[in-house]
Amino acid sequence: MNYNIIKKEIEDILPNSPLEFELAHSRLTLKWLIKLKPDADEALRIAAISHDIDRAITGITEKDLKDFSKLDEFKKEHSIRSANIISDLLKKHNYSKKIIEKVKRLVECHEFGGEKESDVLKEADSLAYFDYNIPFYLKRNGIEKTKKKIKFMYDRLSGQSKKFVNDIKFNDKEVNNLVKSVINN
Ligand SMILES: [Fe+2]
Repeated sequence: MNYNIIKKEIEDILPNSPLEFELAHSRLTLKWLIKLKPDADEALRIAAISHDIDRAITGITEKDLKDFSKLDEFKKEHSIRSANIISDLLKKHNYSKKIIEKVKRLVECHEFGGEKESDVLKEADSLAYFDYNIPFYLKRNGIEKTKKKIKFMYDRLSGQSKKFVNDIKFNDKEVNNLVKSVINN
């Protein structure tokens, strides 16, 4: 019951993000998470839907990153911001300390993984990105940043998921060529 309430609250917050794909991306990350790990527990599911929540609260996106070589640092800060926001939200809903700490840790690690479950979350996030985000990202950030972003999202995938991405045919021809040129390099 709590899960549906918190999910609804997160889904009400996400459309405040400057990125128009935010809510769809959250839902797709959950979809991929469940595909990769059907027995994902509540903490992992909450982490999946809220991992990028900071953008909806602070409005900070990668467009604000002037020096793209600092992407890793930016991503760490983004993860910590999101982790703190979701942890406060869970406290408000009287979640147990155990679940709050688990969600916090998962969101903090969603960009780089490191543990079994944060690896699944990282993987689901990348697959959701390839599933939906690229045309929007390209429009907002231009070709060079998009290439780097695609490379980042692809490199962190496991072999099996890479195969899946290799087989995607993107409807948008420019996006399709862009993805193929990056991942075949
Ligand atoms: Fe994400």
